[in-house]
Amino acid sequence: MAYRTIITGLGHYVPERVVSNNELAEVIDTSDEWITERTGIKERRWFKPGFDRTSNMGTKAALMAIENAGLIPNDIDFIIFATLSPDYNFPGCGVLVQKELGIKEVGALDVRTQCTGFVYGVSIADQYIKTGMYKTILVIGSEIQSNVFDLSDKGRDLAVIFGDGAGAAVLQVCEDENRGVLSTHLHSEGQYAEELCLLEPGSRHAKRIDMETLTEENGIWPYMNGRQVFKHAVVRFVQIINEALEANGLKPEDLDLIIPHQANLRISEAVRAHFELPKEKFYNNIQKYGNTTAASIPLALSEAWREGKVKEGDLICLASFGSGFTWASTLIRW
Ligand code: UT7
Repeated sequence: MAYRTIITGLGHYVPERVVSNNELAEVIDTSDEWITERTGIKERRWFKPGFDRTSNMGTKAALMAIENAGLIPNDIDFIIFATLSPDYNFPGCGVLVQKELGIKEVGALDVRTQCTGFVYGVSIADQYIKTGMYKTILVIGSEIQSNVFDLSDKGRDLAVIFGDGAGAAVLQVCEDENRGVLSTHLHSEGQYAEELCLLEPGSRHAKRIDMETLTEENGIWPYMNGRQVFKHAVVRFVQIINEALEANGLKPEDLDLIIPHQANLRISEAVRAHFELPKEKFYNNIQKYGNTTAASIPLALSEAWREGKVKEGDLICLASFGSGFTWASTLIRW
């Protein structure tokens, strides 16, 4: 019997605080016009310190997904948590969600591939489900990024783009061979590791937390070579979508919906133009949330599903590119 993996529940959570471009322009040398034109973003969410954590935002999204799947937390066999902004250096957020949900002693794994974390998570879950190892897996993407912005001119490109949020999916085994995850495709190119990164605090120093090594030069702020990331993103998004289509003998016009990682509306538009697909086949919610890194795809998928844009039988492509560099895709027959 060949097993397939299907998504049976989706959920998301965003912090209450809405930060508009105009509000940002009061503290950073930028403007609503610049941000809208270069990124498509109109507003983003910022977490509430003392209330929101990467782990508990993930828990809230997960609870929605579990309920949506008609399950209870203890039905989960394995937890995968993708984030670049964990609550602690260690342990990871997966075990924190396990604690918050009161889930029995199942395995919990954190994924550290940044913007592609959720798609990598789906790929890992798919392998476990296809081999029969687990039947019900929770995959979460959650990020708090607003507390690490350099609000000077040097850091403004990152500060205007990134936001906070969480999304989650429940993946389950299915015996209908015509449905579910058709394939997953994962890549990375470590030579660009430092083109989008946050270096401090890191374990390469004699003392991991040492006030003398926590300097601007060492990298206490995230760094992004925006133009370089942009150029690679456009090429890799096209490649990773094509790879998924070719692996399944399908064509771009067979797709019902592409949910790209919400990196920049201009990147999504360039990729859409390449495939000559109509606007309604590309889902974007970056306008409301900015780039939420590992949370962006599950957050977009959960909203698209709630808006009725993901229907049974549809061919859905999730595609992502980001820090690492890493890029990844999956094709799902819903
Ligand atoms: O999650 C995946 C990883 N991230 C991405 O995919 C992001 C990829 N990169 C981008 O989205 C774009 O490169 C940015 C949105 C970050 C920047 O847009 P850009 O069109 O590449 O702008 P730029 O860096 O080439 O800068 C153009 C100008 C510069 O001024 P001069 O030198 O032309 O006078 C910048 O100093 O815009 C200036 N600038 C800003 N101005 C106002 C840069 N950031 C800002 C800002 N507000 N926030």
